[in-house]
Amino acid sequence: MSKSNDFNDENSNTSANPTFDSVLQARLSRRGLMRGGVGTVGVSLLGGMGLAACGGGDDDVVAAGSGAKADAKLLGFTAVSKSLADTVVIPAGYTASVIYALGDPLKTGVAAYRNDGTDTDYENRAGDHHDGMEWFGLGTDNKPSATSTTRGLLAVNHEATTDETRSSFFLHADGGTTTLPRPAAEVDKETAIHGISVVEVKATNGKWATVPDSAFNFRLTSLSENIQIHGPARGNALMVTKYSNDGTKTRGTLNNCGTGKTPWGTFLTGEENWAGYFFRSATDDTTRGGATANSVVSLKRYGRNAGSASRHGWETGGVDDKYARWNISQGVGAAIEDYRNELNTFGYIVEIDAYDKTKAARKRTTLGRFAHESAAFGKPVVGQPLAVYMGDDSRGEYIYKFVSAKTWVAADANPTDRITTGDAYLDDGKLYVAKFGSDGKGTWIELSIANPLIANYATYDFADQADVLVNARLAADAVGATKMDRPEWCSTNIANGEVYFTLTNNSNRAINSATMPPDSANPRVYTDIKNSSSAQNGNPNGHVLRLKEDAPGNAAVSFTWDVYVFGAESSAAPGTVNLSNLTGDQDFSSPDGLVFSPATGIMWIQTDDGAFTDVTNCMMLAALPGTVGDGAKKTLTYAATAGTLTVDTYVGKAPGEDNLKRFLVGPKGSEITGLCETPDGKAIFVNIQHPGESTAQADIATPAKYQSQWPSNAGYGAGQRPRSATIVITKNDGGVIGS
Ligand code: FEO
Ligand code: CA
Ligand code: CA
Ligand code: CA
Repeated sequence: MSKSNDFNDENSNTSANPTFDSVLQARLSRRGLMRGGVGTVGVSLLGGMGLAACGGGDDDVVAAGSGAKADAKLLGFTAVSKSLADTVVIPAGYTASVIYALGDPLKTGVAAYRNDGTDTDYENRAGDHHDGMEWFGLGTDNKPSATSTTRGLLAVNHEATTDETRSSFFLHADGGTTTLPRPAAEVDKETAIHGISVVEVKATNGKWATVPDSAFNFRLTSLSENIQIHGPARGNALMVTKYSNDGTKTRGTLNNCGTGKTPWGTFLTGEENWAGYFFRSATDDTTRGGATANSVVSLKRYGRNAGSASRHGWETGGVDDKYARWNISQGVGAAIEDYRNELNTFGYIVEIDAYDKTKAARKRTTLGRFAHESAAFGKPVVGQPLAVYMGDDSRGEYIYKFVSAKTWVAADANPTDRITTGDAYLDDGKLYVAKFGSDGKGTWIELSIANPLIANYATYDFADQADVLVNARLAADAVGATKMDRPEWCSTNIANGEVYFTLTNNSNRAINSATMPPDSANPRVYTDIKNSSSAQNGNPNGHVLRLKEDAPGNAAVSFTWDVYVFGAESSAAPGTVNLSNLTGDQDFSSPDGLVFSPATGIMWIQTDDGAFTDVTNCMMLAALPGTVGDGAKKTLTYAATAGTLTVDTYVGKAPGEDNLKRFLVGPKGSEITGLCETPDGKAIFVNIQHPGESTAQADIATPAKYQSQWPSNAGYGAGQRPRSATIVITKNDGGVIGS
């Protein structure tokens, strides 16, 4: 999300955690008045006629699953230019097609989507704001297949919905209500377009489409019944609600952002900005015992101060429990009589069996509660524990790693019961948080109730290990974790096991800040001038960090790190901002989605940006990164109030034009997010989220004023309202994507 009224930027980390020595000399990075034009040479536009193959690509680049060798023939495409057009731009020789948009039916008998605000039955349609996505191959025997390249399931996150004031206005004929109470019919649509979907996709004669009547298709929404709480917090007093008096289950999954795929073949979805959906009364601090009461400290740390309005006002939809559950104010009775603890049942990595909708989804509390993005496994090694890397996306939040108690068994790659296999690996283990050193080294600190810093933490009184996991942010504060510039996705380089994290941007990073000065792992502080007037401060363009564990086998407790690439405009000052020497074919801002292709080893970087959007819509780039330590130490000097501050950071080798190229630019107002592929690397699926998100609700009756009309303007579906959608990209010569 990039709009200022979105809910993913809450800044609740007021801890005084140590950051490194630092500081300043903020040189203004001004965009040149004369910018290059938005060229389209060598570019094809989605939505038009088919394009002739341009040749030049070979099919035999890398065998599927070969371990991600960076072949010289990869990135053979011509980089696309920055674009402000309301279309998807991809390189010549490629074709992109929309296959799955908001509202598309998932069941026989569901009406075709009218896209005029009169549609209903969203529990049986694609949800909104497509985000992370994973591929699950299907064989002709209807069983999981690691080799199928023409049939599979897409498991898709539906993160949120486009709103201005409360209403998800594209879903309602007249834009819906912006005042309270919200009508039940509007709330029911809005709760149903959140969650996840699983949809079968199939290629027939090379043309991909969904299978709308597939028995595999299903939805989970923000109100789906019987989502199981698993791990140490299952049955804990913190989980007791009117819906689950024994604290073992909850309803729904919410604000699903990044994803992961387990080595045993299940889908992981991260719950990100869930807190903003809940209402908390102005008197709730008092009811709970005042500002220092444990539950009040927890609620504040997770972004719900007393008096917080909810994003959509769903709690006002009526007296039914499905509306009441969005009000987390404490009542006069016991915890089983209200939803005072409801917030504790969100904020997890949720495991779902994409192949079997009858299996209850599990919220894995062992992996901690925060604003989850993706969940990336380290390379599984037989006889060694598994590692799962994760980020917490808010300003100044942390990077985490889970290490399983159970060691990897090769046979578990094809288990008979996938979700029970997940219980074995993900319900028992250790959660660590990252602390980055100014020497290019880092440590993983275990979040354990046995750690005196946690057990004796003055700010919050942890009851047990379940409490540590449910309040992982507070435990991480207690042990002095490093505040990061909004960790988004992470992904593992299959070739060497190094782990990459996008740090999307951070407007709170400031030279004279007591709590968030620049530090080695988050070293840049500068001003970016947007539209020749508005200034964006802090780290407006973000960077991609990477780390290499100091010991093999996933259980290492120390690592070495550097910055693979800094987001920047190519015209920005090379010594202070454009530290990676990006050119016009590579420059980007606010990296978010990050996915290594198992088939080719290409690292795909996707952006969700509000800083560079006067010049270009959000984009996707292809990268062939090197290794940690291939660059050099660099010292940044800043003039701070307290004197000159210097920050030592570690900058990877500048990517160079052969190793980092812009592959795609999205339509107006969209974010590019989520990517998966067929095992041969010849088809990739990518999500276009919230085209037209800056449309004013007041313009709902005037489509010509919409910021975007994509993908209707590309010939997909009825109506003129913009829709989030999955596209599939193939190479016209049948080759591997990126070659
Ligand atoms: Fe849903 Fe942090 O992006
Ligand atoms: Ca978004
Ligand atoms: Ca984002
Ligand atoms: Ca994201």
